[in-house]
Amino acid sequence: MIWREVRNPLRVLVLHGPNLNLLGRREPDVYGSLTLEEINTSLQNLAAELNIQVEFYQSNHEGELIDRLHQAQDNVAAVIFNPGAFTHYSLALRDAVAAVSVPVIEVHLSNVYAREGFRRHSVIAPVAAGQISGLGLDSYLLALRAAVNLAEKRRRQLGGKD
Ligand code: DQA
Repeated sequence: MIWREVRNPLRVLVLHGPNLNLLGRREPDVYGSLTLEEINTSLQNLAAELNIQVEFYQSNHEGELIDRLHQAQDNVAAVIFNPGAFTHYSLALRDAVAAVSVPVIEVHLSNVYAREGFRRHSVIAPVAAGQISGLGLDSYLLALRAAVNLAEKRRRQLGGKD
């Protein structure tokens, strides 16, 4: 097990959707004061501790997020995805998550269930492996730990073929 982790470390993609590039300046009372770069640095530090690789991508464009999900199929073992407002209405992103077999964990910094009514519905959640909402940076850090567990379980099920 250990040798495989060293020779073939798990790769996880962290996908950030629209407006998340503005974190730190954007509604800090709702989303906190950390910038996206600071969130990514914390994830990078945890990834080093867990002996895995992590890559990051942010886009304000639905099609670019879809393209990255398609690429994830062959390149990473799991995806952590904050779809931003697309969460609540993008059927194209929902279909992209459903189309790939890599586990996708939906994350939100804010508690979407404690905000406006339209945020209480996620079109992504039914096709995601799970959802973490409302814990700020911890939403992402917990998702990374869960992503590793899911990916390792899947690797065992596939007999190490992926
Ligand atoms: C968000 C919640 C969404 O409702 C909102 O549109 C975002 C950020 C979050 O991380 O809390 O852009 O995904």
